Amino acid sequence: MNTKVWKVDNFGDNLINNPQIVDAAHFLQENEVVALPTETVYGLGGNAESDTAVEKIFAAKGRPSDNPLIIHIANREQLLGFVREIPENAVMLMDKFWPGPLTIIFKKKEGILSDKATAGLDTVGVRMPDHPVALALLEKCGLPIAAPSANSSGKPSPTHAEHVMEDLNGKIAGVLDGGPTGVGVESTVVDCTEGVPVILRPGGVTKEQLENVVGEVRIDPALVDEASQPKSPGMKYKHYAPNAPLFLVAGGMGFLQGLADEKRREGLRVGVLTTEENAAKYDADIVVSCGRRSELETVAADLYDTLRRFNSVGVDIIFSEMFPSDGVGHAIMNRLLKAAGNKVISE
Ligand code: TXA
Ligand code: MG
Repeated sequence: MNTKVWKVDNFGDNLINNPQIVDAAHFLQENEVVALPTETVYGLGGNAESDTAVEKIFAAKGRPSDNPLIIHIANREQLLGFVREIPENAVMLMDKFWPGPLTIIFKKKEGILSDKATAGLDTVGVRMPDHPVALALLEKCGLPIAAPSANSSGKPSPTHAEHVMEDLNGKIAGVLDGGPTGVGVESTVVDCTEGVPVILRPGGVTKEQLENVVGEVRIDPALVDEASQPKSPGMKYKHYAPNAPLFLVAGGMGFLQGLADEKRREGLRVGVLTTEENAAKYDADIVVSCGRRSELETVAADLYDTLRRFNSVGVDIIFSEMFPSDGVGHAIMNRLLKAAGNKVISE
């Protein structure tokens, strides 16, 4: 399949009639799948009401079929079409964070969305993305769009259209290239079906921000304790992994440098993942800085591109600094631990 690249570099007025977006919307209406930029990561979109379209999403990504997709909408009227109820907590969260990086789990109305999109669950995760290209596309095609991150399953999520092409060229109808995404880590997934909201996946909206709106917020125990079963099926899979084994290092710079030296003496090519503050202080085959530690938002924005960069230069082993896990650091550490398969070396 020839994968089209539709470049959209002007987000001005009347985006809904931009010929590139009109073309992409047409493919969606024909149940083809296209990648689109959102404010978090690129998504791989398909008609959420069509088994055919949803099957194409799972096939292109190589995604396990028990992992449900997030449904993307342009307006709240669409939501009423496929959810059974909108609890009070959810209304407050939507008022504050939509459009934005927050996915809310609702009880699903039967018989409207493809059961494959929701992996047969009786709930559905929904979000309204805060990106002009995504919103124009959703509005133009008029369909609820199922969209997981547009990477091959297991790889880091795509934050540039080039990442999508690396993984999915030839497997999808096209990609709308709207430049780099902003937030860089995926949406926060919050379950509002059982009273007190529960965070199933940390992301672009922090726990503190949610608490400021609804008061008490819980965290799915599986996010802190590996032994319990996660309520979000996707959280049980290894994810975001670069090709070389990645180790998180809980210790000072000298300790990390010592680990790198030891592996280089053994003849391995060593990569170090750090931030702009410390990059010049390490000696390794490649030192990649991921934003600024003093502004964790910049680390989130660069994280997946940095993980992919180690693949393009080719290293045998990667050592990474750790980050504080408050605010957006919660999502950063969640993704890094997954990318590392939970391998942490402590001083
Ligand atoms: O920022 C994002 O959320 C991006 C962009 C493209 O919107 N999308 C994304 O989708 O990250 P994906 O498929 O890579 O991750 C969806 C996560 C998975 O962990 C999945 O298990 C969970 O959301 N999820 C979806 N529906 C669910 C449901 N009904 N109950 C529990 N978890 C659900
Ligand atoms: Mg994903």
